[in-house]
Amino acid sequence: MPDFDVILDRRGSTKWDKYRDTDVLPMWIADMDFNPPPAVIDQIQSYVSTGMFGYTDRPGELIDVVLSHLEKTYAWQVGVDDLVFIPGVVSGLNVACRGLVAPGESLLTATPIYYPFLDLPKNVDRELIRIPIDMDADYRYPVSALEAAITPESRMLLICNPFNPVGRMLSSAELSDIVSLCLEHDLLICSDEIHCQLIFDDRKHVPVAKVDPRIEDNLVTLIGPGKTYNLAGIGGGVAIIKNPVLREKFNEASDGIMGSINVIAYQSMLAAYRDCEPWRLELIKYLQSNRDYLAERIDRIPGIGMNVVEATYLAWLDVRSLALENPPAFFESAGVGLSDGADFGGPGFVRLNFACPRAILVEACDRIEGAVSAHHNHS
Ligand SMILES: Cc1ncc(COP(=O)(O)O)c(C=O)c1O
Repeated sequence: MPDFDVILDRRGSTKWDKYRDTDVLPMWIADMDFNPPPAVIDQIQSYVSTGMFGYTDRPGELIDVVLSHLEKTYAWQVGVDDLVFIPGVVSGLNVACRGLVAPGESLLTATPIYYPFLDLPKNVDRELIRIPIDMDADYRYPVSALEAAITPESRMLLICNPFNPVGRMLSSAELSDIVSLCLEHDLLICSDEIHCQLIFDDRKHVPVAKVDPRIEDNLVTLIGPGKTYNLAGIGGGVAIIKNPVLREKFNEASDGIMGSINVIAYQSMLAAYRDCEPWRLELIKYLQSNRDYLAERIDRIPGIGMNVVEATYLAWLDVRSLALENPPAFFESAGVGLSDGADFGGPGFVRLNFACPRAILVEACDRIEGAVSAHHNHS
């Protein structure tokens, strides 16, 4: 079984290289300071030794593995043709917006949200209506505000569930309200569910597809192994699109722009979904205890609030009451590299990635505590 306490040399990764030759602990971008499951590494190594790097169709076994994973985990029956393999979830998100939303039509999303959602207007030239979540009300989904924001031009709602950066899972009541609203207004949904296997406290993920069978006709679901198995640098994901008209439009929008998924991503996805459940369960235990440790430490630091992290390995820290001029710069100068909440549409917040060996987390908490205490003493 993996020993997640081991501190690995991760220099060479984007996460660590941002702070190369400094004493800043990188706790920003969403990858983990752990090795991927050994079964994935073995699968890649044995594939590499075949030397087959030419054009390659999706392996039949991978299709079976993905379909049975969806069936077993969510009782979700998906057909072979409903799967579109994609190089990454963000590419899938961009293609869905480009292909399924016509010029002049608009997108909707609740904010704060994973920042590539906010880049969509620039990338695909469609308007994005942002509906702010009430950060002082447990980050509940703003269903009424969403309803009020719908116009005749609205075409697609973008959901991130589990919700990066606020670490929540949408409740069944919220999901059912959202889906009813979309059915009523004939809105498509693109649901980014990449964090659906990083869930704590025995909660169960409910894919949007399972909320009401009618929504499947208007739905693109995006999943991938990148977050759970720490494979972001390899890429790979799946768009599940049951409606053949939408699927055709998605494929047309990706033609010539979004390259095909690479052979190593196929192999790593195969091993991840087929062989790594025991590893994933150990990971969840470790992350959950890191989350609990972090919550306890943050609770004792006056001026910082922390969300309840139900899923993802990302804590969303409310530092508004510290009145910092530049929150990420403040924590960086204390030796902790965090993501700026403003990049997600949440100024006054920072996001902390706690997927690291416990010793690093302890050190980061000590540094944060020391810096905040000094700040209080000076102000
Ligand atoms: C919500 C969400 N979607 C997508 C991604 C990235 O997916 P990919 O690397 O497959 O494009 C991330 C990475 O942090 C994420 O948090």
